[in-house]
Amino acid sequence: MAEFDLVVRNGTVVTAADVSRCDIGIKDGRIVALAERLDTSGQVLDASGRLVMPGGIDSHVHIAQDGDDGTIMADDFRSGTLSAAFGGNTTVIPFALQPKGHSLRAAVQTYHERAEGQCLTDYSFHLIIADPTEQVLGQELPALVQDGYTSFKVFMTYDDLKLNDRELLEVFDVARREKALVMVHAEGYDAIKFLTERLERAGRTDPYYHAESRPIPVEREATHRAISFAEIVDVPIMIVHVSSADAIEQIRWAQSRGLKVYAETCTQYLTLTADDLKGLNMEGAKYVCSPPPRDKESQDACWTGLQSGLFSVFSSDHCPFRFDSPAGKKKQGERTAFKWVPNGIPGVEVRLPILFSEGVGKGRLSLQEFVALTSTNHARMYGLAPRKGSIAIGADADLVLWDPDRKVTITQDLMHHGADYTPYEGMEVTGWPETVLLRGTVIIDKGVQTGKAGDGRFLHRSISPFASPRGRRPTQYD
Ligand code: URP
Ligand code: ZN
Ligand code: ZN
Ligand code: ZN
Repeated sequence: MAEFDLVVRNGTVVTAADVSRCDIGIKDGRIVALAERLDTSGQVLDASGRLVMPGGIDSHVHIAQDGDDGTIMADDFRSGTLSAAFGGNTTVIPFALQPKGHSLRAAVQTYHERAEGQCLTDYSFHLIIADPTEQVLGQELPALVQDGYTSFKVFMTYDDLKLNDRELLEVFDVARREKALVMVHAEGYDAIKFLTERLERAGRTDPYYHAESRPIPVEREATHRAISFAEIVDVPIMIVHVSSADAIEQIRWAQSRGLKVYAETCTQYLTLTADDLKGLNMEGAKYVCSPPPRDKESQDACWTGLQSGLFSVFSSDHCPFRFDSPAGKKKQGERTAFKWVPNGIPGVEVRLPILFSEGVGKGRLSLQEFVALTSTNHARMYGLAPRKGSIAIGADADLVLWDPDRKVTITQDLMHHGADYTPYEGMEVTGWPETVLLRGTVIIDKGVQTGKAGDGRFLHRSISPFASPRGRRPTQYD
């Protein structure tokens, strides 16, 4: 029997720490050898001229998630993870959403049923807590954390999801006790409601006014409030999808005071602006997400935050809706006002290419920073390391072979998601994922699907080493 099932030969291997020329020996789905040269009687995958990086981990995607008023998401677990795989990802962490009035445990079961046998990548679930009852706070959450659901998301806005201040504090307190990492959607509900109603009275209901209904101070205020609550409770938090210079300033302030406030930004905040919402005939609805895309100053601040380490993770916030279809909902017949447009845009397939091209290609990020921001830090933050997120002995052989020179114009035709458009249509990028391995099995082979639904496994996650306010500090081994 061969010593290795597969050797990836002659690639330039990139981790969050190093860039080196070496061969990778894979056995039983894991990396078992790294050496200048590995001889084998088994299979060889030639990676000459390619970067070999840990498969992308997208820790913020929405797949087959229930919307309010019956809105249907454009991706089920099959298309969502297929799109992720084509984009160079090997793990995604979508959400299990607790609808108000229902048990969280039952919601987790529902999402497992949706995902089971459907996924092409590995996956896990964050828990969205929409109804923090005594039962949820006292029993369900502690048990679920023990079972490997070690992160929650809470919302400070949206009619059907928002928690009030007291509820936020209660959830933070459970997170502190259970050492779960809380992700916070920081936009203030009342301010948005107030502005939305004022805009409507003035007849300003085009998609563009979505951005005006939640301007930068709405995000800044909620970010500050979340940080203050985290300080009061003494719990680390992760502020997700940060979009503006002002919110970044709040996070920098918190971090400089030694608070464990982590942050995420996303593709749309580097590449889109509020002007994209101005398209005619509801075209602007294709860019409606929350927080909304901002302006050049905020884009620059997001880049600086990625370079300085203020952001530990870069995600897609993939949240796909069809623009134009009977069941799809970006454009809802007579309902043209922005308040009817479901929030969220697709992007899991282009997260890596866009950050690589705009970041590494334009000299803003090193290769190591790219890997840290798109894979390694996601694994560390959310309890998947050391099994995921690196190229190291013992780690799962989740790899992407990357062509750094390939020029691609992003178009909907190239996408594998269930949406009927991409907000990044026409964008030119250099660098593209070519071949993707999940636990040693080739799931995308030079741009052709070779993996199948069901190849992806559910991942029970450990407690995040970043979720403890005191106690053990994360080390380089996390
Ligand atoms: O507009 C967005 N981002 N929709 C997805 C849900 C969320 O808030 O992350
Ligand atoms: Zn119900
Ligand atoms: Zn959110
Ligand atoms: Zn989201």
